[in-house]
Amino acid sequence: MRILAIESSCDETAAAVIEDGRKIISSIIATQVDEHKLYGGVVPEIASRRHCEAINGVVAETLERANMKLTELDALAVTYAPGLIGALLVGVNFAKGLSLSTGLPLIPVHHLRSHIAANYLAHPELEPPFLCLVVSGGHSHIVEVKSYTEMKVIGRTRDDAAGEAFDKAARTMGMSYPGGIHLDKAAEYGNEERYKLPQPKVSGSEYDFSFSGLKTAVINLIHNAKQKGEEINVNDLSASFRKAVVDSLINNFIRAAENMGYNKLILAGGVSANSLLRRRTSEEAEKRGWKCYYPPLELCGDNGAMVGSQAYYEYMAGNIADMSLNAAATKNIEAAFNTL
Ligand code: KG4
Ligand code: ZN
Repeated sequence: MRILAIESSCDETAAAVIEDGRKIISSIIATQVDEHKLYGGVVPEIASRRHCEAINGVVAETLERANMKLTELDALAVTYAPGLIGALLVGVNFAKGLSLSTGLPLIPVHHLRSHIAANYLAHPELEPPFLCLVVSGGHSHIVEVKSYTEMKVIGRTRDDAAGEAFDKAARTMGMSYPGGIHLDKAAEYGNEERYKLPQPKVSGSEYDFSFSGLKTAVINLIHNAKQKGEEINVNDLSASFRKAVVDSLINNFIRAAENMGYNKLILAGGVSANSLLRRRTSEEAEKRGWKCYYPPLELCGDNGAMVGSQAYYEYMAGNIADMSLNAAATKNIEAAFNTL
């Protein structure tokens, strides 16, 4: 089954043709990041406009590279939630138009479910059930993936997402948007014991996270140093911050896996590109004789291929939209597309 999938939830206009949920026939990503860099973050209105301009060309090129015509496809898929509403609407309306004109079924895909599915493209043997740490710019969840389309969130951030915290700490250190990757690179040269940062604690729910205190601690540390005329060692501060975030993610993730009896650890989302998070997850899994998987770097960020992968399983589960499909800025990963 060949699916043309479209993604426009944030600042990448992307499309892909995917076969049977597992094989990438073609995949194109047009990123707007250079423009948003000027403002230090994504400007929603600009994002929507750029998606409108790019989407036709991105889809045409995706089909051209696949050497396929619309008539050779079996279905269409689109990210419909969560994300920037104006950005999502561009993809959703484009896909609805294509579906109406071709008669192809339209599969609605949840953005975080597609991040998890990026792993199916890279690891043919991987199948649910497993425990997944989904860490992106907007979300930080520990998700019990019971089947391809049944999920349960067992831990979540109470405030900032991990990616958001990385980006804000990086920005305070003078790095350009999105700073997570720059902070990660700087951290590779730093001493992670140099700066003492608070270890975030959350009362109540056992596996929840909190990153805003850590972020504020870094911002205060930098401002205090500036006032005293002291130099900050950016590599050391990056390493100390990265360790604090990754420790918090890993501790809850491993504890949840142990308590719930999972022996397969999966990483997903933009922050799964983080070198320390990948290393630590592998080490912790190896120590216990567990398996661990994460997407290749090119599939960690937003792309159309992961949407096409998840779409295959949504289709198999009967999740197909009609022309009433709407985009949604927020949506629980557990919910079927036609429920709130
Ligand atoms: O999943 P994604 O592409 O977009 C959302 O769905 O939000 O995630 C983007 C986030 C950004 O916050 C970015 O800084 C972060 O992923 N990120 C990283 C790394 N690469 C990307 N964070 C830490 N270390 C990295 N290597
Ligand atoms: Zn994403």
